[in-house]
Amino acid sequence: MDAAAATAVNGVLEVEERKAQKSYWEEHSKDLTVEAMMLDSRAADLDKEERPEILSLLPPYEGKSVLELGAGIGRFTGELVKTAGHVLAMDFIESVIKKV
Ligand SMILES: C[S@@+](CC[C@H](N)C(=O)[O-])C[C@H]1O[C@@H](n2cnc3c(N)ncnc32)[C@H](O)[C@@H]1O
Repeated sequence: MDAAAATAVNGVLEVEERKAQKSYWEEHSKDLTVEAMMLDSRAADLDKEERPEILSLLPPYEGKSVLELGAGIGRFTGELVKTAGHVLAMDFIESVIKKV
């Protein structure tokens, strides 16, 4: 297979993977809850430890522009906006973005 054909095949696979992922998250984000976002019924408890831990691992972002990919219902977005200069939170599921 030449490079152009390989690139085309990879492009098709990426589109198929994105469709599969989107379909998965459409199915799993119906409730718009932290449990759905973390795929765990104990999410409320886990979130109490996980959220501060993840935020503490970020590089300094005070006053900076932050791009949050796969933001879900905004579990981290609310914290990020307190410190960042600007936050762009993105998700491919429209309903979760409306919840943010
Ligand atoms: C495990 S959830 C985590 C949500 C949020 N970051 C949190 O920690 O609560 C993953 C999120 O990423 C989104 N997502 C996954 N792949 C994506 C893609 N290719 N483009 C945009 N959003 C995506 C899903 O729709 C879902 O809301």
